[in-house]
Amino acid sequence: MPSLSEALHEFSAIVLTGGSSGIGKSFIELTWKLHPKAVICNLSRHKPEGLIGGITVHHFPCDLSQPQALSAVVPEVLGLLSREAPLGRVLLVNNSGFGGYGRFPDPGVGHHTEMIDVNVRAVVELTGRLLPLLRARGGCVLTVSSLAAFQPTPWTATYGATKAFLLSWSLALNEELRGTGVRALVVCPGPTGTNFFRRAGLLQGSVGSSLSQSADQVVLEAVRALGRGRSVAVTGWTNRLGAALAGLLPRVLAARLARIVLGRYRLKHVR
Ligand SMILES: NC(=O)c1ccc[n+]([C@@H]2O[C@H](COP(=O)([O-])OP(=O)(O)OC[C@H]3O[C@@H](n4cnc5c(N)ncnc54)[C@H](OP(=O)(O)O)[C@@H]3O)[C@@H](O)[C@H]2O)c1
Repeated sequence: MPSLSEALHEFSAIVLTGGSSGIGKSFIELTWKLHPKAVICNLSRHKPEGLIGGITVHHFPCDLSQPQALSAVVPEVLGLLSREAPLGRVLLVNNSGFGGYGRFPDPGVGHHTEMIDVNVRAVVELTGRLLPLLRARGGCVLTVSSLAAFQPTPWTATYGATKAFLLSWSLALNEELRGTGVRALVVCPGPTGTNFFRRAGLLQGSVGSSLSQSADQVVLEAVRALGRGRSVAVTGWTNRLGAALAGLLPRVLAARLARIVLGRYRLKHVR
């Protein structure tokens, strides 16, 4: 089995979304520790701040909820890669995403359509636009889905559906890509200690810390799965158990159970 360092050294360049906080920021920091020569490009609205050491990140300000954002930014990213990392395999990390909590359409239809734009449309568009480069040089498309992908998720219905899309899409893409030198890996974290819950309208710590992983733990497991050539990785053993159990239940029953479990977070709802 390749080490974490070997898994990352396979790539000369990494293009990721959402490196300004949480899982994406941890991904940048782990890459820098293990493979400091990798050229890292980040697409998010805010620049990654407070990174450890003197990490060089090429930041491309980009609001992925805006339909035109990628047509402007992708040529700039391709230009930078041709100058700074003209050879070698490329890792695309589709990580940007956010959730929302409440009875649909709370807190407003716009919140849901924006979520679909960032969590789904932008992933499909960015991958589609970068795939010719990945095919030419070899690479991998790592997409961050969620444990929420494995069953319908009442009270956060749109979020769960966007993540179910990513799980299905990435697994199918991986099969289409066989023999091309490009593969796809979908990573499904469970509750993780990041800004995610606050942005979703929940209090920090809504999910007990015993059930929660840190962003660093998620990234370590993601990179391990990358090295092992996996096509799907659910991070954390309790999450793997949850995903397996959800798969055994009839979907109607899984949805009903999820309504009860996720309904508890209403107590922690701050909106
Ligand atoms: N935390 C969890 O419990 C958990 C569980 C399962 C899956 N996930 C998934 O993990 C991924 C990372 O989330 P996180 O937990 O690290 O949360 P986070 O700390 O809130 O980070 C979310 C990232 O997404 C970016 N983003 C959000 N809206 C964007 C937009 N309109 N345009 C561009 N980038 C945008 C943010 O960058 P800017 O704000 O700078 O734009 C930020 O860097 C998400 O896809 C999330 O669904 C999280």
